[in-house]
Formats: sequence, C-alpha cells, structure tokens
Amino acid sequence: KKIAVFASGNGSNFQAIYEAVESGTLRAEIKMLVCDKPGAFVVERARKAGVPVLEFCPKQYESKMEFETMLHEELQKKDVEYIVLAGYMRLIGSVLLENYPEKIINIHPSLLPAFPGMDAIGQAVASGAKVTGVTIHYVDEGMDTGPIIAQKALEIQDGATIEEIAQEVHEIEHEFYPETLDKLFEGKRKMEGAEE
Ligand code: GRF
Repeated sequence: KKIAVFASGNGSNFQAIYEAVESGTLRAEIKMLVCDKPGAFVVERARKAGVPVLEFCPKQYESKMEFETMLHEELQKKDVEYIVLAGYMRLIGSVLLENYPEKIINIHPSLLPAFPGMDAIGQAVASGAKVTGVTIHYVDEGMDTGPIIAQKALEIQDGATIEEIAQEVHEIEHEFYPETLDKLFEGKRKMEGAEE
C-alpha cells in the first residue's frame, strides 16, 4: 500500500515504520511525510531517509477545511491510499475523513478508551493504574475514539516514572505499529490481539 505518515514531533515511530519498510517486514511504500510543525525533528529524519516532506503551518490557512483540501490534493498526486498518524497532534477533519474512510490509522499510548488525549501516560500514572499499553485504531472525528484494531498491554511497576514508562511504550510501539499495519494492509481487518 502507498502510505503517508503524519507526524508533529520527534518521529521515532516514523523511523520505525521507515525501517520496517526498508527491511521488507512492512509491505508498504512511504510516499510522503506530512508535518504540521515546520522544523520538527521528524522532518530531518524523513529528509535523511529520502522520503518527500510536506511541511505546512496550519495558522497560515483560514480553516482546517482549507489546509486539509491542500493536503488531500497533495496526497492524491502521490496516489496515497492510507494515512498513518504517528504523533500527529491535531484532530483530523471532515475533508480527510470523507476522502479516506477507514483508511486513517492512529497509534495512542494507552489502552483506549482509557486515557484519551494528551499526556496519556501521565494520566495513567496519576490514576494509579497498574496496567496501560498501546492502542492502534481507525480515526474518526473524535479524539482517540475510532474503532480499535489492536492493543498491547504493559504493566506499570510501582514507582515507575513517566519517562521510564514512556520508554517502554515506545519500544512496544516501534514493533507493534509496523507489524499491525502490515497485517492490516494484507487484508485482515481485525487483529488477533496482544498475545499473538
Ligand atoms: C507516540 O507515543 C504515539 O503513541 C503518540 O505520540 C507519540 C509519538 O512519538 N501518538 P514519536 O514522535 O513517534 O517519537
């Protein structure tokens, strides 16, 4: 499948997806990195990897509809079939949702529906949860609310810091996201789940 990765920040998941494509474990082609934060580190990663970059500044557009129309045109030029969100810190609007039904995927660092939104790991720690994890899901108009594709759990050890948990979460994500995307692209809509 031809994919575009959307990211706003560091881009370690972009990197993992890129490496999985290079090694052949993720059967996909990254046609573009889309970044809404010009200068974010993920842009440097994409340039090094030779992946075309589309950086844009949402504030320079009058509305989400306007910049999503621009994005949709660019995605169409490259025949993009799936949009893969990897730390894209912005809600997807109606233009992209309508043009990519069931073709926009997100990864979130909690076991949804627990702890949606910002700082999911901090929320988990603050709540005293003993377990958290990673969720891969279809994107709808809500914040981390779309149908769940796959989840993986992670135990929170007593006294673990947010940084320690975040590191473990990232280690899981870097394997789990490429692996799940490959299965999805190969035609299985529902995954077997965490223990597989
Ligand atoms: C990941 O933890 C992902 O679950 C969340 O944002 C983070 C992005 O990290 N949506 P990175 O930019 O890929 O390193």
